[in-house]
Amino acid sequence: MLDHAAPVPIKRSSYIKPHIAIDAVHLTIRLFDDRAVVICRFETSRLDDSTKPLTLFGGKGMALDRIVVDGAPLDASQFDTAQGEIQVEVGANSVVETTTTIHPHENTSLEGLYLSGDMLCTQCEPEGFRHIAWYPDRPDVMSVFTTRIEAPRSWPVLLSNGNLIEEGVLDDHRHFATWHDPFKKPSYLFAMVAGDLDHVQDHFTTKDGRDVDLRIYVEHGNATRTKHAMESLKRSMKWDEDVYGLSYDLDIFMIVAVSHFNMGAMENKGLNIFNSKFILADEETATDGDLDRVEGIVAHEYFHNWTGNRITCRDWFQLTLKEGLTVYRDQEFTADMHSRGVKRTDDVALLRAIQFPEDSGPTSHPIRPEEYSEINNFYTPTVYEKGAEVIRMIATMLGQDGFMKGMALYVERHDGTAATCDDFVAAMADANGVDFSQFKHWYSQAGTPVVTITRHYSADTQTLTLHFHQKLPKTAAKTERKPMVIPITLGLVGGNGAVVPLHHDGDTLDQMTFTLTEAEDSLTLTEVPEDAVPSYLRGFSAPVRLKTDLTDAEEMRLLAGDVDPFGRWDAGQSLMVKALTSMVATPSASVDLTGMINGLAETLSDKRLDGAEKAQILRLPSQSIIEAAVADHPDAVCDPYLIWEKRRLMMSLIGKGLEATAAPMLTAFEKKANRLTAQDRALYGRLLGLAVLSGYAGAEDHALNLSRHKNMTLSENGLAALNQMEGANRETALAEFADRWADNSLVMEKWFMHQSSAPMVSTPEHCDALMEHPAFDANNPNKLRSVLSVFAAMNTPNFHANDGSGYLYLARHIAQIDQRNPQVAARIVLPLTRFSLYSDERKAMMKGALARIKSAGGISTDLSEVISKSMN
Ligand code: PHE
Ligand code: ZN
Repeated sequence: MLDHAAPVPIKRSSYIKPHIAIDAVHLTIRLFDDRAVVICRFETSRLDDSTKPLTLFGGKGMALDRIVVDGAPLDASQFDTAQGEIQVEVGANSVVETTTTIHPHENTSLEGLYLSGDMLCTQCEPEGFRHIAWYPDRPDVMSVFTTRIEAPRSWPVLLSNGNLIEEGVLDDHRHFATWHDPFKKPSYLFAMVAGDLDHVQDHFTTKDGRDVDLRIYVEHGNATRTKHAMESLKRSMKWDEDVYGLSYDLDIFMIVAVSHFNMGAMENKGLNIFNSKFILADEETATDGDLDRVEGIVAHEYFHNWTGNRITCRDWFQLTLKEGLTVYRDQEFTADMHSRGVKRTDDVALLRAIQFPEDSGPTSHPIRPEEYSEINNFYTPTVYEKGAEVIRMIATMLGQDGFMKGMALYVERHDGTAATCDDFVAAMADANGVDFSQFKHWYSQAGTPVVTITRHYSADTQTLTLHFHQKLPKTAAKTERKPMVIPITLGLVGGNGAVVPLHHDGDTLDQMTFTLTEAEDSLTLTEVPEDAVPSYLRGFSAPVRLKTDLTDAEEMRLLAGDVDPFGRWDAGQSLMVKALTSMVATPSASVDLTGMINGLAETLSDKRLDGAEKAQILRLPSQSIIEAAVADHPDAVCDPYLIWEKRRLMMSLIGKGLEATAAPMLTAFEKKANRLTAQDRALYGRLLGLAVLSGYAGAEDHALNLSRHKNMTLSENGLAALNQMEGANRETALAEFADRWADNSLVMEKWFMHQSSAPMVSTPEHCDALMEHPAFDANNPNKLRSVLSVFAAMNTPNFHANDGSGYLYLARHIAQIDQRNPQVAARIVLPLTRFSLYSDERKAMMKGALARIKSAGGISTDLSEVISKSMN
């Protein structure tokens, strides 16, 4: 068996500027039923006085049919294409033309040009363009693209970036369209689509009077489900003008929904391509949560037009420059459109559930990584979500006005160029006259800092001294661990949630932000009444783990009425985590949750909170958060099954404890089901789940009935409640759901998810049976994730089965998927690498499963990078 030598990682420190610029690119793409011929002609000019050749990248071994430099054909067979890189001698100004034949119909990696259903589409970020043409495929080479697509007339719609400048018919039942994008861009933002597509149209007038033609292209039959996406797009365009002063810059903006897509969506200039799941959504087919996600992703891709496209990344180490910033922008957009508090809480819950474990596991990396073997592996929660937290801290420290001044300077300095994270931070610092050199450790140091706050109160002088201590844990990334700059927003809470003013340095404030820059520091507040309770890290002002000396009673006070919605929610989370940790540490001890349940009952009847806020407070902390807390406990073993069991037990105890308050609310919700707000639907779902789990009278019938509702949120509320345990009602609801949605492939993904996540029934055999279902498609990433990723993430009893069968099951599938789609395989494998907190036996089983995948041989660079890091 061939043992592939480990690929040599690429280092951030090895960056070299391009020697040669590409001034204009002319692409001709001839599409046929079984292949595409790509002619790529471009003009070059030297940027320095070196005589270095031009490096062109292509897929490893990708055909180079012909290459012509300044009119002279070179002997193409002289170029060794095996390593995906060739060197071409060019003059001071040259014209290079390459011709390549590719086979999109056989492309299952969904990178480059590929077939999704009956349409051809592209995915070029980060390095997909090289699978289409030999080209200097690196983000700091920006050029103006003109693209001519020729195709059979059976693909009537031919799209690319920019404006349509010509179209017409050709012989042989063929036709063509030529698109010109006047904005310089790197090749990763190139896109084209060909197919027999329907579209919906709308328009938006920018603040300077440009009338922009808006189009969403979909497969026939789907146009009716695009309204929400289109409205979301218009709201995004307006918001970016109102808040950032940034307007759209072309006369047309297109979105295409495709069913086979590795990620969520892609911001190609003027031609966004979306996973259809994030476009086709209305109240019948999508839940309220889904609709908000669609709105957020449409906004995210649109916002990239400035933060990503107009100003792009110099190299892929800078990925967070566009992603962290754009996530921050889409988070703020959603906060402005809906509830700021609910959005913040959702985002923090996500960060803790997926980014914290990444930062403490084998694939830990700073938001700006130092090296990679496969850049596709760095589209991570760290680069995206933690990256957004870093931008948020900058905004917190500078204030909204200061942040906007920094943004304006950033755009002024770097528009039309490929920039770095350093450039961004410099613009923020320069615009505000501040020094961010220490703050920049957030870009280079991996790991989640632990901040400990202890109190010393003097009743005599009424002073409260807070001692802060920060520590960055060791991580697999082995980056430096110097003290970070950590903004900590805090306030004091009196009885009934009263705001206790802060007296500090002669100022009186409702709340303040203390910035911790040393390993240890302290803050003294005066005129502090004895019973005031501090609320720390309001709004989650920094992405850290917080340890405090707050008592349960004090956290109950915060839960009952902290004015900060995050602080209030987090107090509840902390109480739950503490209770769960002791339930796991002493499994046989009886549990008394009375105090906490009383607090939750009060929350449930609190008139100041809406349904969504209540639903969030009643949501138990995710499995991974509890695992981390248990791992910290001196006498508890981090056993995922035991934790899952105790978490479920706590849920049913909370359900029982809340019955007196919750049961009448459920009856009322049922009565006015058709007239509920989205907020109330959220609470309805949460309470119904508790009711079924803890066996309220009639709860299962209620849920079964609700699962038949026309509104998808309500239907899912019913189905999800029943899905927690085996039983005839669950079977009936699932069967009816499948009948109703058999023809809607996207909705069937929900059905797969319910089954693969069901703890009682979804054994590996059951999941294998699911993958035989007619609605399943092994080449569709959504479908693979709906069974395999959901199994690994949600089905703890089966995935973490003590005999290791769940691990081996996942491993077997990953090895197969890797043959077809390495990017997807390298993501689905991740749960197998999250073993750092577990017992040695369990670690050995999980590593054993990874070793199995590796030993099959011939695995992709993507997968091999993740596995080698995890086995070290
Ligand atoms: N750049 C895309 C986004 O965040 C994500 C993406 C990456 C899509 C790579 C496809 C491939 O909006
Ligand atoms: Zn993005």
